[in-house]
Amino acid sequence: MIEMSDFIASGFPVRRKRWFVDNAFLCDRLNSEHPRRIVRQGYVAPGRRAVSQPKSILLIIGGGVAAYKALLLIRLLKGHGVGVRAVLTTGGAQFVTPLSVGALSGEKVFTDLFDLTDEAEMGHIQLSRAADLVVVVPATADLMAKMAGGHADDLATTLLLATDKDVLIAPAMNVRMWEHAATQANLATLIARGVGVVGPDEGDMACGEYGPGRMAEPEVIFAAIMARLDGGARDLVGKRIIVTSGPTHEPIDPVRYIANRSSGKQGNAIAAALAARGAEVVLVSGPVRLTPPAGVTVQAVESAREMLAATMDALPADAVVCAAAVADYRVAEVADQKLKKADGSNGRTLTLVENPDILKIVSKLPFGDRPALVVGFAAETHDVIAYASAKRVRKRCDWIVANDVSQGVFGSDDNRVTVIDDAGAEDWPSMGKDAVADRLAERIAKALTG
Ligand code: C5P
Repeated sequence: MIEMSDFIASGFPVRRKRWFVDNAFLCDRLNSEHPRRIVRQGYVAPGRRAVSQPKSILLIIGGGVAAYKALLLIRLLKGHGVGVRAVLTTGGAQFVTPLSVGALSGEKVFTDLFDLTDEAEMGHIQLSRAADLVVVVPATADLMAKMAGGHADDLATTLLLATDKDVLIAPAMNVRMWEHAATQANLATLIARGVGVVGPDEGDMACGEYGPGRMAEPEVIFAAIMARLDGGARDLVGKRIIVTSGPTHEPIDPVRYIANRSSGKQGNAIAAALAARGAEVVLVSGPVRLTPPAGVTVQAVESAREMLAATMDALPADAVVCAAAVADYRVAEVADQKLKKADGSNGRTLTLVENPDILKIVSKLPFGDRPALVVGFAAETHDVIAYASAKRVRKRCDWIVANDVSQGVFGSDDNRVTVIDDAGAEDWPSMGKDAVADRLAERIAKALTG
């Protein structure tokens, strides 16, 4: 992360940074649409991994247009050696037939017609516990409400209440239903109980509206299932963690802004890794061109001040990870009309003022308000450890993750970091940003859970 502060440190006066703005960071806002939105995405899907031992899932197919995707999901799972026993709700049976589900899964399909003969063969309780994971695809608003409320008025809800296995849901519903306070409250309840959530995506919906509510694609649900079956650690369940990520955009006029080269990849990976361990994650993200990681609440912001406000709003939290490349400076007076080039003028000077330092503000919160763990990042081009250690002390954060950005880390998939805390500096070898995120999440879990 190259920040204005690096130029300040080198004695470059703030008012003379015009060339810097014009030449390197003057961007056209129109090229980068970043609608303000809050997206709640599903469980982490770190990619396909082979399941080491034969596993099986209990697939509950709810009543929604997206039920057809459950058929594709069954094919994917079967193709990777995962057994699928399916349950069709009455609504689900309106969209896909027991015959097609049975043909693809190669197993008997259970419906509400589950009768006493079936009960004698396999009881509700046994059915709910025979699989390694229970997956609900699609999870309708009604099914989520029933899960949150502990209802057991049909086969699917009875199994969901009776199971002692992990549950993963893939919500799908109309955008208004998804955004309704009741659904969001139910979702929060389910997440707090450790239910994994994959999706929904944002996009065109069968009902003709646009927005979040479209069920995640079968490949994404499949990846989330495989990750769960792999039995990753769930040591952050019950912990709330805020991650700042990406660059900030500091407006100059209605069409231009100051930005930096942060891709947001490392921050997104950290948010995903924390969510995979069961944390409730709020990702406060500057404008990035990345698909939001699954299983986290995304607060999309543009400027440093918006990032600060969103971070403070997301508190209290057990930990905050400030991975964002926050611009140290913003333009003192944002023009409300597009700045015009004046003929014959000898350039233009922009006056910059300092942005709030989110990491420092969070670290200095009074005891009780301050998260137990505050982690900062320090991107340096030279004397990495010395500068990063000094930054840790100055900003009063607990850990600093230092990285050398002299070798082109921006946008890359790899990173090489040193984690500095009270005990000293821990050098990590060069590895993928996902691996850095996993290792950091493991370290955070140890710190928070003792
Ligand atoms: O001072 P510098 O920008 O190098 O500090 C980097 C660390 O401070 C990162 O963790 C970054 O997210 C955080 N930071 C911040 N608010 C700022 C500037 C940096 O949270 N205004």
